[in-house]
Amino acid sequence: MKTAIVGASGAVGQEFLRVLDERNFPVDELVLFGSARSAGTSYTFRGKSIAVKELQHNDDFKGVDIAFVSAGAGASKEFADTITKHGAVMIDNSSAFRMDADVPLVVPEVNAADAQNRPRGIIANPNCTTIQMVVALKPLEQLSHILRIHVATYQAASGAGAAAMAELENQYRQIIAGEKPTVEKFAYQLAYNLIPQVDVFTDNGYTKEEMKMYHETQKIMHSNVETSATCVRVPSLRAHSEAVWIETERPIAVEEARAAFSQAEGIVVMDNPAQKEYPMPLFVAGNDPVYVGRIRKDISNPRGLSFWCVGDQIKKGAALNAVQIAEYLKKNALF
Ligand SMILES: NC(=O)c1ccc[n+]([C@@H]2O[C@H](COP(=O)([O-])OP(=O)(O)OC[C@H]3O[C@@H](n4cnc5c(N)ncnc54)[C@H](OP(=O)(O)O)[C@@H]3O)[C@@H](O)[C@H]2O)c1
Repeated sequence: MKTAIVGASGAVGQEFLRVLDERNFPVDELVLFGSARSAGTSYTFRGKSIAVKELQHNDDFKGVDIAFVSAGAGASKEFADTITKHGAVMIDNSSAFRMDADVPLVVPEVNAADAQNRPRGIIANPNCTTIQMVVALKPLEQLSHILRIHVATYQAASGAGAAAMAELENQYRQIIAGEKPTVEKFAYQLAYNLIPQVDVFTDNGYTKEEMKMYHETQKIMHSNVETSATCVRVPSLRAHSEAVWIETERPIAVEEARAAFSQAEGIVVMDNPAQKEYPMPLFVAGNDPVYVGRIRKDISNPRGLSFWCVGDQIKKGAALNAVQIAEYLKKNALF
């Protein structure tokens, strides 16, 4: 397989290098792309040094089977035709095409088969907060249809990219040294703070990130479920956490939910309150699964259930999910 990574220098691009290797993805040749900023920089993959090429409108994608693209929505929109015109399948991590009717939006544990129908040669990877939530919701939906979701997210700095993660680390260093912290990537100082805004606000008072959770959840789950989200940036480095409340058609008992989570693909149940066992971003960052804990009845709603989930948003929320889509295509001879 000739494989390309677009946005190789970024937080997600670097994770692609690790995940492709970790999963023994069959790469015969790897080509790396970036903007003029990182062109010429080399990264090592399976012992071989590979220089980043500048992404341009040319025939560099001739012969490429699969392109993992994580260079932001602007670059995805601008270069989609260049990337796909010779037949490469583009798995896109940006928000550029997620809600387009002719682009499947895929989380393999939930709707892998949607990847089969991709008239434009593009498959979209959902927003990271949505991915981990729908992985957790899938086994519950199989028990009883989910009508409504309330969710509050606790999103790590790295969700905003490599430079944002570096800014948070630097802010702590600067504060300890008695200096004024540099604030560039976030609207406010994130160190010792929480910012109840991820992405820009829309007309209804929700942010774009929150509306992504609303729309993408419906598309992936093929469901009319309504999601009301509050997305918050928190000063952790990696792995997003979510407090989720759902309302189902019939009540789901806690033990029933726990059993369904335990058997589900991609989920690890970590739920032993007596032993203070629940998932936390510090301890699960870098891991593949979505971790679920704090499973309990919602005392405010007889048909309500509440849980907490944590997932590495650069891994399952981005690179791993995209590679799993490619693995599904390969396994089912869909290239
Ligand atoms: N971080 C996450 O947790 C996460 C999770 C899910 C999805 N995503 C999505 O994945 C994408 C990348 O995110 P990130 O966090 O990896 O960002 P990042 O760390 O800021 O990296 C951005 C990457 O895009 C490249 N790039 C930017 N403009 C380009 C252009 N015109 N042509 C070619 N390459 C270009 C950059 O290359 P240069 O260094 O050469 O400029 C860099 O490699 C975004 O769409 C983001 O929304 C991120």
